[in-house]
Amino acid sequence: MKKLWGGAFRESSDELVDRFGQSIETDLNFWQEDVIGSVAHARMMAAQGLITQDEARTLVGGLEKIHEEGPDSLRMDVEDIHTAVEVRLRELVGDVAGKLHTARSRNDQVATDTRLFLHNELLRMTDQIKGLQGLVLELARKHRMDLMPGFTHQQRAQPITLGFYLMAHFWALQRHGWRAERLLELANYSPLGSAALAGTSFPIDRLATSAELGFTAPIPNALDATSDRSYILDALHICALVMIDLSRLSQELVLFSGREFGFVKLADSITTGSSIMPQKRNPDMAELVRGRTGRAVGNWVALATTMKGLMLGYNRDTQEDKPPLFDSLALVRDSLEISRLMLERADWQVQRMSDAVRGDLSTATDLADFLAASGIPFREAHEAVGKLVRACAEEGISLEDLDSHSLERLAPQIPKEALGVLKPEDSVRRRESLGGPGPKAMEAQIARATELYEKSGFPKIA
Ligand code: ARG
Repeated sequence: MKKLWGGAFRESSDELVDRFGQSIETDLNFWQEDVIGSVAHARMMAAQGLITQDEARTLVGGLEKIHEEGPDSLRMDVEDIHTAVEVRLRELVGDVAGKLHTARSRNDQVATDTRLFLHNELLRMTDQIKGLQGLVLELARKHRMDLMPGFTHQQRAQPITLGFYLMAHFWALQRHGWRAERLLELANYSPLGSAALAGTSFPIDRLATSAELGFTAPIPNALDATSDRSYILDALHICALVMIDLSRLSQELVLFSGREFGFVKLADSITTGSSIMPQKRNPDMAELVRGRTGRAVGNWVALATTMKGLMLGYNRDTQEDKPPLFDSLALVRDSLEISRLMLERADWQVQRMSDAVRGDLSTATDLADFLAASGIPFREAHEAVGKLVRACAEEGISLEDLDSHSLERLAPQIPKEALGVLKPEDSVRRRESLGGPGPKAMEAQIARATELYEKSGFPKIA
């Protein structure tokens, strides 16, 4: 196997050692970043007089050619992407290729590649989050008056609207966007020029390569720059959090699309059938998002475990940072898109949802609130309504079935004006507190969300 080292070695390495150490397959994810980083390094070296302008032109020309050719021109029987690019460069421009590695090590190179790659991925992730938010916002607007049961403990709690429910997911996405944006800022510092761990005696210009590559500034300490992987853990954490929230949405879609709920029909194009039961339509995509969340969480745990106790300075252990990173980013990318497709094509059964909030005693809180508002301490009101609920259950009627006669008979202490709060529509309409599902509160919430959504990026809520 072609290597960038070996001068001091008498024997060639074992075949298994080559295979065990190889990272070229995973490295292909950032082959472009590797080439771009090398271009910046070559230009800086020429500007500093470390190589001639002619040599720089040759090196940059060769690197641009590799960029045009794409990864197919790269050899795969090599240790890593840095080797593959250098080998190809030598084929294209000859021995001057050997000058590219002056004042640089694969240790600062790989950290640079990863940071550049992550930057682009985070930008893509934030775009995708915005896209999904736009859809959720549109659906929430459309369904802001459509009743649905709200749950606590996975049991009917109080009536809400479908729009209100969807907006809860909008704000979760807003937080993810915000986190990703903060990481874009936090991770955008350049390790390039740190060399192996301790800088270099060559008069390099780290400010120049940092600026050329779009970083905010060079990382101030070369040892830190080559050792740190916390920005990858941050990224894995964000990926895990996105997946956790998507898994909750998925679980809701699985439940809601089942016959017991019947709240939503998922489109044929994103569901699958059963090989034995012809009538089945399975929410497999939602289940896979839910299931793969385990992997996203595991990826964070895997790298955190690798990093724990690692002495500063490059350790080959950190080669294991990239498979989980690439995996989690791809997982989030696909899961955001699958979630978008599921929601975009969902057929919400609004009548069924609205029917579901009737007859379930879920306006009991409204009745207690009504009594409390008339001056009765809330605890007493709670007790009185509790008794009424029990009486209703014994009679086999629901709260909405009460009329002035039955109310008088079952709960003489409750005034008949209370009947006006027992319909689910009224219950929702009356909950106008900030963040509530009432029509005015929802209008305000949607307006606020729209305002934030239309700004670029993910500004603070307040
Ligand atoms: N494949 C290596 C990694 O991902 C590249 C850096 C190798 N550096 C070294 N000193 N062996 O970490």
